[in-house]
Amino acid sequence: MSHIGTPLSPCATKVMLLGSGELGKEVLIALQRLGVETIAVDRYADAPGQQVAHHARTIAMSDADQLKALIEAEKPDLVVPEIEAIATPALEALEAAGVARVVPTARAARLTMDREGIRRLAAETLGLPTSPYRFCDSLEELQAAIDGGIGYPCVVKPVMSSSGKGQSKIDGPDGVRAAWDYAMAGGRVSHGRIIVEGFIDFDYEITLLTVRARGAGGEVETQFCEPIGHVQVSGDYVESWQPHPMHPAALQKAQQIAAAVTADLGGQGIFGVELFVKGEQVWFSEVSPRPHDTGMVTMITQWQNEFELHARAILGLPVSTALKSPGASAVIYGGVDAKAVVFEGVDEALRVPQTDLRLFGKPESFVKRRMGVALAHAADVDTARERAKEAAAKVKVRAAG
Ligand SMILES: Nc1ncnc2c1ncn2[C@@H]1O[C@H](COP(=O)(O)OP(=O)(O)OP(=O)(O)O)[C@@H](O)[C@H]1O
Ligand SMILES: [Mg+2]
Repeated sequence: MSHIGTPLSPCATKVMLLGSGELGKEVLIALQRLGVETIAVDRYADAPGQQVAHHARTIAMSDADQLKALIEAEKPDLVVPEIEAIATPALEALEAAGVARVVPTARAARLTMDREGIRRLAAETLGLPTSPYRFCDSLEELQAAIDGGIGYPCVVKPVMSSSGKGQSKIDGPDGVRAAWDYAMAGGRVSHGRIIVEGFIDFDYEITLLTVRARGAGGEVETQFCEPIGHVQVSGDYVESWQPHPMHPAALQKAQQIAAAVTADLGGQGIFGVELFVKGEQVWFSEVSPRPHDTGMVTMITQWQNEFELHARAILGLPVSTALKSPGASAVIYGGVDAKAVVFEGVDEALRVPQTDLRLFGKPESFVKRRMGVALAHAADVDTARERAKEAAAKVKVRAAG
């Protein structure tokens, strides 16, 4: 983009976010700070990002007709997918017709919306190391895949799912049917396909935030943030920290893998590359062509957080991935099913030294819904983790009224 216009005027630079949860909200704020006119789209009204954008639109983003009609009506300069469940073929058609530029590319959004597209690209086309895997459409195929080489333990995931939904580990023959049934109940489409993966006994896992942004000469350059370590409970992240110490050889392999997969997906923007590490061995797990939930820690650890990096990169602006301080994040779950909620203990949480909070403003709470995040910085990661967890634990979510 050669210039930025004035919001709410005919020369405005307009960006549409498809998905306006807590991650989209921060991207919208970063764009607004650069004088961009923002349109926040979500499937429900009053989504977090809709509360801070110039315009809020509520549609079923998985419906190709609704999505196409909205983009044609709003004519944004950029369309930024923030979630996976989008009618990506419609985005590809609009991009091909020159109606909208999709971030990072419509193809990247399509390939990463289900596990099959990205896994086949990474393992079969690019030859990157991954867990052994097979795709299956029935319980019989699953059993045959396990017996034919995947073995136990293994992990079953619906191809269309995120945040650990429908995902489970199988330790032996007795667990196969339960894992199949669980995947069928938890996928985004009921008659789903699954991936079964051999279980990787990793030492730790990281998110390597990788930015593709324009350099001084106009060409796209790849830069890496410091590795982010994280803890996942039932496939959902509960804690993350940065930097995660790595053996130099493992870090080099991680960066090579991230560079290869993001170069193929192309475009400009930030990517969250998920990797498993054991000693000097590194496996590619998956990639988000957008900010990553574990990367919320960068709101306290980096000079430019992952949302600012994304905003700058997609606008063609320079980026810096430099670390400001070691730090950590800890998720605040709803813990209650309720419409409006009240957060108690916010003052006590913020009294924990060197902490900050984000309360996402979601209009409804679920027991397992992410409602906020505590952030902390310190001279070392261990202290930061303790502070973030302490602050998160002090925030209590209660049903209002
Ligand atoms: N093959 C595997 N071996 C060992 N652990 C695994 C394997 N696959 C997944 N896991 C564990 O489960 C977590 C979630 O898996 P994955 O990232 O594939 O699911 P997801 O639903 O996309 O989660 P999210 O949306 O939170 O990234 C991983 O971060 C890792 O901790
Ligand atoms: Mg993941």
